[in-house]
Amino acid sequence: EKGGYDHFMLKEIHEQPSAIRDTYRGRMLVKEGIIRMAGVDDNIEKFINANRIIIVACGTSWHAGLVAEYIFEDIARIPVEVEYASEFRYRNPVITNKDVVIAISQSGETADTLAAIKLAKANGAFVFGVCNVVGSSIARETHAGAYTHAGPEIGVASTKAFTTQITVLTLIALKLAKVKGEISNSNYRYHLQELELIPEKVQKALESDEHIKTVANIYKNARNCLYLGRGYNFPVALEGALKLKEISYIHAEGYPAAEMKHGPIALIDENMPIVVIATKKGHYEKVVSNIEEIKARQGKIIGIVTEGDTNVKRLADHVIEVPETLESLSPLLTTIPLQLLSYHIAVMLDKNVDQPRNLAKSVTVE
Ligand code: M6R
Repeated sequence: EKGGYDHFMLKEIHEQPSAIRDTYRGRMLVKEGIIRMAGVDDNIEKFINANRIIIVACGTSWHAGLVAEYIFEDIARIPVEVEYASEFRYRNPVITNKDVVIAISQSGETADTLAAIKLAKANGAFVFGVCNVVGSSIARETHAGAYTHAGPEIGVASTKAFTTQITVLTLIALKLAKVKGEISNSNYRYHLQELELIPEKVQKALESDEHIKTVANIYKNARNCLYLGRGYNFPVALEGALKLKEISYIHAEGYPAAEMKHGPIALIDENMPIVVIATKKGHYEKVVSNIEEIKARQGKIIGIVTEGDTNVKRLADHVIEVPETLESLSPLLTTIPLQLLSYHIAVMLDKNVDQPRNLAKSVTVE
């Protein structure tokens, strides 16, 4: 059942190339330049006329929502707010019938997300679900939706659900950008071609596994760890930190790299490992200067870099390479080494990777 892997989590990490492909297959026709998704096509007016999109979710799904915020605003020019479902539902939010609410949930059973959906519906919003489990409560409760085709995710730590959620949300953003005329035809086509290449690039990223293991071995006894990223990769930093906390029980925090000097920089000394996402596109120079600031304070730097990078390599203690892609698609690649890093650390610490203490796969009570 684990397909020869030691844990479900590792199996699910390795399933990502096919899970992402299964998620865009039949929806994205690259040669024709078409994206078709029934749930979006049937409600296109609602999306186009929306004043804003509100994304509600919890945990890793909330991180996928944050990535989506960047792409929806960047290419489709629709204002987006991303909310923890638990906060949204209890804070008397302003919701109107001009709002589109997107609820993201792997299990489709998360209690807070379900309650947020009910509240949004009661206030007249159009509610769209992005779920993995077919026929789940959230899939049934939403007006329309698009499934991620990740297949069953058993490991409590979410991996392939995250990357397939980003895939679905990227397809929606591209579709809306095209329909609204916010993206040029050539740029749109370019995005489709690049998205089609993502599964093989994820495969390539997975090949760094042995190297990541050696890095894991060096830092497995750390007490704390920081994850930094900017732009599209800021949510990936949050997700990397969550993965490490939940399966290895090492305290970790994700931060936008520029926020470092507003507090967390005080934590940096020679015992602090800092994972910095520093891929070529998107604020590269700025991230490099953040790395220099860390180095000046003796922090240990693990850089997630674009293949062939030399600048960060010169400064960092370790680098882990991922293939080059568009900035907007980079989270699909930079997430991979972070998943593997936490996995290996947790295994080396002899933790229960698939069923970490105190956690359940779906949180059906608030
Ligand atoms: O099933 P959902 O996507 O609604 O679950 C949301 C969170 O409970 C979930 O992502 C949780 O944070 C994971 N354990 C993270 O790996």
